[in-house]
Amino acid sequence: MILVTGGAGFIGSNFVLQWCLNSDEPVINLDALTYAGNLENLQSLKDTAQHTFVHGDITDADLLSSLFSKYQPRAVVHFAAESHVDRSIHGPEAFVHTNVNGTFRLLEAARAYWGSLSDAEKAAFRFLHVSTDEVYGTLEPEDPPFTETTPYAPNSPYSASKAASDHLVRAYHHTYGFPTLTTNCSNNYGPYHFPEKLIPLCIHNALAGKPLPIYGDGQQIRDWLFVEDHCSAIRRVLEAGRLGETYNVGGWNEKANLDVVQTLCRILDEEQPRADGHSYSEQVTFVKDRPGHDRRYAIDARKIERELGWKPAETFDTGIRKTVRWYLDHQDWVTNVTTGAYRDWLGKQYGN
Ligand code: NAD
Ligand code: DAU
Repeated sequence: MILVTGGAGFIGSNFVLQWCLNSDEPVINLDALTYAGNLENLQSLKDTAQHTFVHGDITDADLLSSLFSKYQPRAVVHFAAESHVDRSIHGPEAFVHTNVNGTFRLLEAARAYWGSLSDAEKAAFRFLHVSTDEVYGTLEPEDPPFTETTPYAPNSPYSASKAASDHLVRAYHHTYGFPTLTTNCSNNYGPYHFPEKLIPLCIHNALAGKPLPIYGDGQQIRDWLFVEDHCSAIRRVLEAGRLGETYNVGGWNEKANLDVVQTLCRILDEEQPRADGHSYSEQVTFVKDRPGHDRRYAIDARKIERELGWKPAETFDTGIRKTVRWYLDHQDWVTNVTTGAYRDWLGKQYGN
């Protein structure tokens, strides 16, 4: 079986769902259920013995060691993290706690367990660390996309904490021969995306008749990847990635934020026109920029394609349509996650 951390969050839950569709191998899913974790994402697995949910924290060393001895996983896929850049600006401590200390605790528990395995089990064991392109910092308009050898230059407390965790993973391979794999992926979008992030926030606000907040001039560029493509890349790296290597994962979809939001508005205008017949784009509102806002991210995903034969299945046009459709069809999910704590966050970040 495999041990997944953070499997009740956005990407983790998509990964667990995809895993259970494509394999019979059991999954142990360890998640602390922070504001970003939601068991409703895994509702379709509730009667499935293949999936076992464990409510707990990756910083809890005793819990980790008991999970390794009890379940004897052949691999760890590590998603659990604090993931929102804006929250890291308001409160960096939780990011150091989970992303740095939590990854360290998980590495320690996994290494102790790995040390107790037979030679054959040791050789088969994998620790896959899910990371981000933000560790590479920001690009100028004419710069080539990030490759696996681009120097690290994280600019936010979030990306600095992810960079620190990547370095620990690298060091565990180099020092102990611990069998690690790291993926550095660009911006994901798709079902179960918490509506604090640009795409789900704008779909939610558009339908609620609220402003669509664009930071600064809206010309910052992100490289968008449909979440199911990210999950299929992780499965492929787990299956065939070379030990100690890192793989950049991306969709070759560089878009300016304003263009992304205008695209959302156009799709919503077709799928669910406003009652007054006006376009949702009238709700676009420019607001104060994010401090230290990275201007451009772009991923060179040729290594994973060349070595592992992975390519994204969705284009931005197909993926974004599926995403908008999913939110229109799952308004109950949105209502359930936009609770009091969510409204407190909006007040803190956007004021009135
Ligand atoms: P998310 O915020 O939606 O989910 C994080 C999950 O981790 C939640 O279920 C939360 O409850 C859980 N968690 C948080 N702290 C925990 C702790 N201490 N112990 C156990 N569980 C804990 O995040 P996401 O967007 O799904 O991102 C998942 C991973 O992928 C992260 O490591 C992130 O850095 C990375 N990543 C995200 C993106 C993206 O675009 N969202 C892109 C590249 C990489
Ligand atoms: O690049 C991968 C990263 O993508 C992941 O590592 C992070 O976990 C994930 O949150 C995401 O980070 P971003 O900061 O790029 O995502 P976010 O959706 O918060 O913002 C996308 C862009 O949109 C960014 O340039 C900031 C801008 N933005 C965001 C929000 C929430 C706005 O203009 N307005 C907003 O209200």
